[in-house]
Amino acid sequence: YTRETFLIANWKMHKTVEEGRAFARELVRRLENVSPKHQLIICPTALSLWAVGQELATSPVMLGAQNLDLGREGALTGALSGYLIREAGARWVIVGHSERRNLFGETDALIGQKVAQAFEAHLRPILCVGESLDDYRSGQTFAVITRQIEAIFPYTNSEVLKSLVVAYEPVWAIGSGEVPEPKQANEVAGLIRQILSKQISDDANTVPVLYGGSVSSNNIHQFLEQAHIDGSLVGGASLQVDEFLKMADIG
Ligand code: G3H
Repeated sequence: YTRETFLIANWKMHKTVEEGRAFARELVRRLENVSPKHQLIICPTALSLWAVGQELATSPVMLGAQNLDLGREGALTGALSGYLIREAGARWVIVGHSERRNLFGETDALIGQKVAQAFEAHLRPILCVGESLDDYRSGQTFAVITRQIEAIFPYTNSEVLKSLVVAYEPVWAIGSGEVPEPKQANEVAGLIRQILSKQISDDANTVPVLYGGSVSSNNIHQFLEQAHIDGSLVGGASLQVDEFLKMADIG
């Protein structure tokens, strides 16, 4: 099976509008005569989406948001719909990041609805799943991942599920400098595809599954060489252009 491969920058709550713009401008310049071997996506803060998108417009680099809210438009103070995000130039949206789950109280059910809303707004969702340290230590990894993936099934049909991207991010590996054994991450990525196959049978073989959590140019290749892993969702190491390009094998 051939699958798309990705390098996705999740800037989280970093970079001012001007800093985001400067990064994008530099990235576009450095990519002028290069055809990247992965699809590159930058997910800045919602505030910088438009400005960063303008800089990326002439390049192959795509734009993604880090979150979306339910609804299209209306009396929802502080909310941002998929429709508005798409309008600002994004084609991608991260859904269910562990920071959204744990710090903002997002439930499996809400995340399922957000995935559905993303599809409705013509955004491709990057669904994040991953076990906590306690889950990991008590051997619950597979059970947790299964629950998190299956939670989106009531809200999505098999047609849209085919264009899902999943990022496996063990919570204990995020920002910690610790990573799982690449083989272990590969096993979970395989499991994710197996769970998806219950809903979309063979099409699950073409759904990209990424690894995320303390990835940098020092360790990215050991994950990318795994059969079930099709790229990475990167936080800290995605904030510098040099490091980002290094991870993409572009000097
Ligand atoms: O979305 C990105 C992940 O949370 C990984 O973050 O690369 O800083 O560990 P990190």
